[in-house]
Amino acid sequence: MNDIQTRQDIEAVLTQFYTQAFADPSIGPFFTTVVPLDLDTHLPLIADFWESVVLGSRVYAKNVMEVHRQIHNIEPIRTDHLDRWVTLFTATVSKLFDGPKAELMKQRARSVATLMNMKLNHPQIGTQ
Ligand code: HEM
Repeated sequence: MNDIQTRQDIEAVLTQFYTQAFADPSIGPFFTTVVPLDLDTHLPLIADFWESVVLGSRVYAKNVMEVHRQIHNIEPIRTDHLDRWVTLFTATVSKLFDGPKAELMKQRARSVATLMNMKLNHPQIGTQ
């Protein structure tokens, strides 16, 4: 199995991940009902974020935490939602790729989800 090397590799992960996420009983409704996600528009933005993390070849300037705080204000993103997100995401990466960049992508998914959980669900711990 190869490691992640190109933008196309990142898009392959995201396409598979969102196909599963949309159909998931736990987190699917966020994408289909809470903030109906038009993947044609959003996938390039989400790929920009991951390209900047994994390949360092693009600058993603938006604030991911703020995007999700706004979703959380409409429908709470609970700890179990974030756990499910991470489980699906890391399983998708592992199914397709193997190597240091694949590990980095999974590690960053876990750390962003952990930070998101702290900020959204435990704002009294640490800084907001
Ligand atoms: C249960 C957990 C999550 C849910 C339900 C969720 C849901 C969403 C939704 C509905 C959007 C579209 C927002 C919009 O159209 O305004 C979005 C955007 C995005 N999400 Fe998540 N998300 C979750 C976790 C995460 C995590 C852990 C990460 C990163 C590790 C992440 C990365 C992104 C990025 C990069 C975008 C694009 C933001 C932009 O517009 O630039 N998400 N998410």
